[in-house]
Amino acid sequence: MAILGNKQEKTYDTGDLKVPVSLGVIMDGNGRWATKRHLPRSAGHRAGAENLKELCRNCGRYGVKYLTVYAFSTENWSRPEGEVDQLMKLFVEFFDRYDPELEQEGIRVRFTGDIAALPENIREVCKKGEERSKNRPKMQLIVAFNYGGRREILSSCQKIAEKVKAGEVEPSDITEQMISENLYLPDVPDPELIIRPSGELRISNFLLWECAYSEFWVSDTLWPDFGYEELTRAFRDYAKRDRRFGGLSKKESKE
Ligand code: FPP
Repeated sequence: MAILGNKQEKTYDTGDLKVPVSLGVIMDGNGRWATKRHLPRSAGHRAGAENLKELCRNCGRYGVKYLTVYAFSTENWSRPEGEVDQLMKLFVEFFDRYDPELEQEGIRVRFTGDIAALPENIREVCKKGEERSKNRPKMQLIVAFNYGGRREILSSCQKIAEKVKAGEVEPSDITEQMISENLYLPDVPDPELIIRPSGELRISNFLLWECAYSEFWVSDTLWPDFGYEELTRAFRDYAKRDRRFGGLSKKESKE
């Protein structure tokens, strides 16, 4: 499949690549990117937001169906107030400024996280963004904002506990599937691949339940510099992974 022809003349040729249906990206390294350039951290976040737009375009053209990005964690509130304010402002600005481009690419926007606990103006952006993009067909961009994997699992357990309390479910009947069905966005498939740039080798509370069988791909590139070539490299390496889900590889099962 070759999807040709944007301004930079990239060839979205998936010949020796495997494109995941559902992809997670931890957008890390904005601060270091800025510090290396003697710029304030805010400049790194701005460059990171710009790069998110590029990632959306590239993933949409490659045929990813669900792209979940980690934009603000439940732990990020512990950053200095000025940085938190700037990230909130950037969030509002991102959807104001880039929605026409997301629309052009057929990208639907959704949010995951403890959205109810966010300030009203942010909740409004989430509501509007989801509403106006709900019929876009090509790819879903899922923005994890005020997101924590543990909090998501906790919220699922609380919903199930309510059902137990109401006598609808016996504790012994609780299944893994029920926990999955009560997560924030149960219709979004678990990510087959999670990419983390910037050299850190940890999951940082991202999609903890959903990543049980995700493949990981890491690189030293800082998020604002993580472009098309590197994404292509990740998809090429992913094509070589043997996903066994605790079982045997196809070759071994035939023996
Ligand atoms: C981690 O890098 C990144 C974040 C906490 C923010 C991620 C946000 C963006 C990429 C842009 C915003 C996007 C939207 C939709 C608002 P870091 O600051 O921890 O980097 P460091 O580890 O180098 O300090």
